[in-house]
Amino acid sequence: MKTSFIIPLCTVIGATCLSLTAQADMISEGKALHDKNCMGCHQAEIYKRDNRKVKTLAYLGTSVENCNTQLGTGWFPEDVQAVTKYLNATYYKLK
Ligand code: HEC
Repeated sequence: MKTSFIIPLCTVIGATCLSLTAQADMISEGKALHDKNCMGCHQAEIYKRDNRKVKTLAYLGTSVENCNTQLGTGWFPEDVQAVTKYLNATYYKLK
């Protein structure tokens, strides 16, 4: 009786821990991709300038996608998402 209660509980907690780890992994992967590919035309200053263009999370994704297309990196959607998450966690902090 006891074990049948504990096992589902661990599964739920485990899934939460896993998804937190996945988030952190995604951000560090995004940073690696960004630092390798995205510093050619602009430095990180562009994300911090007073008149920066990105004001929403959706538009951040669009900007990353646009610059990525110009660059022709051949990133997968997950890569674009990882870089978007990294830029948001580090600079934009949009909800
Ligand atoms: C071919 C040159 C070029 C490359 C390479 C490039 N960008 Fe850009 N990026 C630009 C230009 C130019 C702007 C400014 C556009 C403007 O001011 O309207 C910009 C703006 C941005 C912005 C919006 C900044 C703001 O105002 O808030 C983001 C985000 C961004 N780039 C992300 C990236 C990412 C991620 C990569 C790597 C995939 C990348 N860029 C690579 C040219 C480039």
